[in-house]
Amino acid sequence: MLGIVIIDYGSQYTALIARRIRELGYCSEVILPSESPTYVEPCAYILSGGPGFAGDVKLSKELTESPKPILGICYGMQLLIANDGGTITSGDQRSFGEEKITIDKKRKIFAGLPASLSVWMSHADHVSELSDDWQVIARDSRRGAVGVIDKSGKRCGLQFHPEVSQTEHGTRILQNFCRSVGKKNWQPVDQVEFLVNRIKQQMTGDGLVLQAVSGGVDSTVATLLTLKALGKERVRCVFIDNGLLRSDEVKGVRTNLSRYLPEVVVLDCQDYFLQKLSAIVDPEEKRKTIGQAFIDKFKEFANSSEQKITHLGQGTLYADVIESGGYGITATIKSHHNVGGLPDDLGFVLLEPLRFLFKDEVRAIGKVLGLPEEILQRQPFPGPGLAVRILGEVTAERLLILRQADKIYRLALHKHGFYQQIWQSFCVLLPTASTGVMGDRRVRGATIALRAVTSKDAMTARVFPLPANFLMLVADQITSQVEGVTRVVYDLTSKPPATIEWE
Ligand code: XMP
Repeated sequence: MLGIVIIDYGSQYTALIARRIRELGYCSEVILPSESPTYVEPCAYILSGGPGFAGDVKLSKELTESPKPILGICYGMQLLIANDGGTITSGDQRSFGEEKITIDKKRKIFAGLPASLSVWMSHADHVSELSDDWQVIARDSRRGAVGVIDKSGKRCGLQFHPEVSQTEHGTRILQNFCRSVGKKNWQPVDQVEFLVNRIKQQMTGDGLVLQAVSGGVDSTVATLLTLKALGKERVRCVFIDNGLLRSDEVKGVRTNLSRYLPEVVVLDCQDYFLQKLSAIVDPEEKRKTIGQAFIDKFKEFANSSEQKITHLGQGTLYADVIESGGYGITATIKSHHNVGGLPDDLGFVLLEPLRFLFKDEVRAIGKVLGLPEEILQRQPFPGPGLAVRILGEVTAERLLILRQADKIYRLALHKHGFYQQIWQSFCVLLPTASTGVMGDRRVRGATIALRAVTSKDAMTARVFPLPANFLMLVADQITSQVEGVTRVVYDLTSKPPATIEWE
């Protein structure tokens, strides 16, 4: 499929570019500078922003000699200029935040825009000199070049970020670029065919896929696509009960999955995970231990199978990859158990058809595949489960406390009609005891934090403003019904600066 290839030089906004392009109806894929695209056939390139100095970085021959259109954003624009005889100067004209610019309205990239715009800047270096092949098409208040185009009209650079919502008409600018490079080709319906074909291409050989299912929307959609591509003879669906699930979850997931998937093998691995987690308190170590434990159990299953299992199917999403530092230059925020938490000696080839998509895009595909709202709108639940909601050591006793509190909170959210309005809501068990008074006696008890956030794709999130009366009611229920809990607090932080989960 033709698509726009986005080369990631380490900007925090690269994911947003990919997403905006697909929202506009054009296929896109993010790659590292050292990689080649695997999903799309490039019809154009976008060079992302990045934290480095572009002045002395050489672009590959493939790009400098490519006749295909290229849009450089921020660092990407500086790369284009530096590689075509211009000069980048470091440091002296920093600009972070909103800035007014004036544009040359006659240019295609600015079609339909007013002459002056407020845009989002985030740069320390700037373009100080252009070669004769380039012209300025936008300037900032210091008359600096913040938009440039080359003589052929095929290479264009923007110093600001059209992909962020703070840039006025940013989406229109990206749309102008997309329209000039190809036709719309990205609709949920078309994606099913595209993804199914990709899986067929990847599954060369006659091996089978061990498909990891969790009951969540991502793994269910990934499984349905894989089944469509390969048929049920080549797919073994496995659900691991790791003992880190919410109360009643195994039963619920089993019932749900049996409606949409062929036979799902449920492996009871509760003791194994608990024993592996014993005495571990560091969040990254927990995730890696859990990632390894999943693989141990998958390998055990594969080894006991009569047929040759070569691939591991997972519902990994773009956000998991980004946060795990999986695209190389971005920092590791947390190693998601299914990406950065995987051991080096995996023993399977990964089959991850959703790896470049966001959750809401996956939900749209799930809808096309006929999944009901109750699965599509299921709140995300992290693979490491309650282990990352128990700060400190994970023990059977602490799991019991968290499960009870979480059930009370979940039922109350449903009963009062909040659950469907929230992206994710859950309880966290904190590692500190605090003083309480119960039955006229001083007690030391555990603290539960309540979390509820809204989000579109988990990359950013805002606190859901649950009413105080509701929160107090839940706090009363938890402290009176869950033995060992004497305090309940509400988490008021958005993402960023916090993440959604506490670990
Ligand atoms: P954070 O906490 O980083 O989470 O804001 C973003 C989204 O990802 C989920 N999450 C995970 N999912 N394995 C997963 O499958 C993980 O290790 C993991 N860590 C976080 C989290 O629940 C939220 O929806």
